[in-house]
Amino acid sequence: MTSASIFFDAENKVFHLKNDQISYLFQVETGDILSHLYFGRQIATYHDQRRYPRIDRGFSPNLAGDPGQVDRGYSKDTLRQEFSGFDTGDFRQPAVVIRAENGAQATDFRYVDYEIQAGKPNLADLPQAYVLAPEEAKTLIVRLVDATLDAELYLSYTIFADRPVIARTAKLINRGTQTLQVEKLASVQLDVIENQLEVIALHGAHLRERQVERKSLPHGMTSFASHRGGSSHHMNPFIALVAPDTTEDSGTAIGVQLVYSGNHQFTLEKDYVDQVRVLAGINEQGFSWQLLPDEAFQAPEALLVYSEAGLNGMSQAYHHLLRERVARGRFQYAPRPIVINNWEATYFNFDAEKIDHIVDQAAPLGIEMFVLDDGWFGHRDADKSSLGDWYEYADKLKSGGGLAGISQRVHNRGMQFGIWIEPEMVSKDSQLYQAHPDYAIQIPNRDMTPSRDQYVLDFSRQEVVDAIYDQIAAILDDVPIDYIKWDMNRHLTEVYSAALPAAQQGEVAHRYVLGVYQLAERLTTAYPDILFEGCSGGGGRFDAGMLYYFPQSWASDNTDPVDRLKIQYGTSLSYPISSMTAHVSASPNHQTGRLSSLTMRGDVAMAGVFGYELDLSQLSDTDKTQISEQVAFYKTHRDLIQYGDFYRIESPFESNDVAWQFVSADKTETLLFQYRVLSEGQPPLHLTKLSHLASDKTYLEPATGQVFGGDELMTVGFYNVPLQQADFTSRVRYFKQV
Ligand code: GLA
Repeated sequence: MTSASIFFDAENKVFHLKNDQISYLFQVETGDILSHLYFGRQIATYHDQRRYPRIDRGFSPNLAGDPGQVDRGYSKDTLRQEFSGFDTGDFRQPAVVIRAENGAQATDFRYVDYEIQAGKPNLADLPQAYVLAPEEAKTLIVRLVDATLDAELYLSYTIFADRPVIARTAKLINRGTQTLQVEKLASVQLDVIENQLEVIALHGAHLRERQVERKSLPHGMTSFASHRGGSSHHMNPFIALVAPDTTEDSGTAIGVQLVYSGNHQFTLEKDYVDQVRVLAGINEQGFSWQLLPDEAFQAPEALLVYSEAGLNGMSQAYHHLLRERVARGRFQYAPRPIVINNWEATYFNFDAEKIDHIVDQAAPLGIEMFVLDDGWFGHRDADKSSLGDWYEYADKLKSGGGLAGISQRVHNRGMQFGIWIEPEMVSKDSQLYQAHPDYAIQIPNRDMTPSRDQYVLDFSRQEVVDAIYDQIAAILDDVPIDYIKWDMNRHLTEVYSAALPAAQQGEVAHRYVLGVYQLAERLTTAYPDILFEGCSGGGGRFDAGMLYYFPQSWASDNTDPVDRLKIQYGTSLSYPISSMTAHVSASPNHQTGRLSSLTMRGDVAMAGVFGYELDLSQLSDTDKTQISEQVAFYKTHRDLIQYGDFYRIESPFESNDVAWQFVSADKTETLLFQYRVLSEGQPPLHLTKLSHLASDKTYLEPATGQVFGGDELMTVGFYNVPLQQADFTSRVRYFKQV
């Protein structure tokens, strides 16, 4: 391992965080304001050449320069800063806004001192990147004070020894005697100067998650946010800042990712001197946090990545970090089982015999786990009832000995057994709601807005989290269960808690997320042998926060292979393949109506954590034979796919020909996945080149017996000639070093 270092140049008052790959620099400027200098490729030493230029600019308020003198060339309004305040001379978006008892909202934090720690301190109650040994990272904690508010701000910067990553966060402490209302606290601010910056964000919807969109930045504000109570399908808590010429494999990219699963906002503001301020953190809309004397408020963590190897370089840094130092537990590196899930096979309409039938057919195909989806609890036969009643639906399952009977038979078949839960929700038609209507999030004297006929439990209240924990623990103590799919099928409205006073209602959305984290932490700690999968109507809460608790997440309810190309491609920008579950479902597809071959469906799903979600009894023997071949192929290459390095080659957002590749860490093995979406008469010729192989080594393609040089595979490439002339075709090629 190389090492991380943090220097403070006391003469120029410059902090320099660096490792072998990156440097991050900022300066204590005149007036003790923290000014951002540089984030990019590692430099050996810095010689103060980026000190902010003094230029007199009209209508930008001034700061005192030398003692007692106003410096007309020095303004917070143009200064690149580390964490800007509000209403004290910087008219751009602030990182921190606090309302004092007199109603003023101004903030002005000035540098006081710093501390350097080995390793990375733990953030209480929040997900985060961690280290296993102090040598893995160094952390700089800088203290600033707003003397008028009597408040302290701690900015924390962790640089990892051998990753191009800086983890940042901010914490406020009220040191005074008045009550402060925190109205905004960003996790990170990054004031960048690069000309012609473009931004990539992942927008989407239910059934269309994480679509890649890239655009140049206009002057003024550009923002990407979720105000839905969850990180959402609609805007993922991640952006990348790229140069116009950045491609998958070349050019610079800076990633900004929040380790957070609730309301978030990323704002980019291009100012009048063409600097861009990037802010990311909890969405300020509807947010406020009451800070009594001596209380602290901790912002969620943000992960910054710098890459000069294009978007793939940035993605690699995130994949390794999230896999190795965000995901935890027994399954972090475990081969993830091939699942058969009954949802699209039966929906709510099942009994024990139907389930047994699915399991009986799946076992001989080599499928490793059966997951009983929605409908096994309360009296749930449709999505209108029973959320909140986490005890088995005895009438529905009685003929087969209940849940325990099913579990037993699944295990007897040599498979593992999993169930679906949706712990954050309640149906009006449930015992829980009848007993505790106030457990549902709602505003007094205002109707609750329904969504999927269900309501959200007030997880800001400890007794609500406890009530759900007790019910779920009782099932897990009773029935042998190997896996849990944790769903969340609506977003939050009428956000208000019966348990908090008026001054604290702005805290509910964040306290809700903390309640979700607490339940996830308690269940994963109490049941370490259960593999948890996150889900929110498909991929609606696919974020680094949830990955801290659940090492994998359902990527989308849309299992159409053509749509999945985009969803999985977009997801891979910031999340590792081991976190992305992908199933083969029926054709025609239930979400799009599209017909596609079992080969195409398999070849798309096999580029994730693989499984099936269809009625096996509807399949021909030929299909079943093909499924057992897919299962066997996936098992052979599972380690390479789930834990190898994943590189995007050709984008479904730009091309009819799509390709991606898995390479083992030692470059001895590679899998190339190629897809062609639509067939064309007189198809244009299309070349695909592999990447990241050893150019001086020879690779054998066992399927054809052909041998190629690594250099050839990477520079000469192959024509992508589909194996048949049809829409939605695919091909997987495996090569290994000889
Ligand atoms: C969500 C999930 C699906 C399925 C249903 C069950 O939509 O994403 O996979 O579990 O809920 O209601």
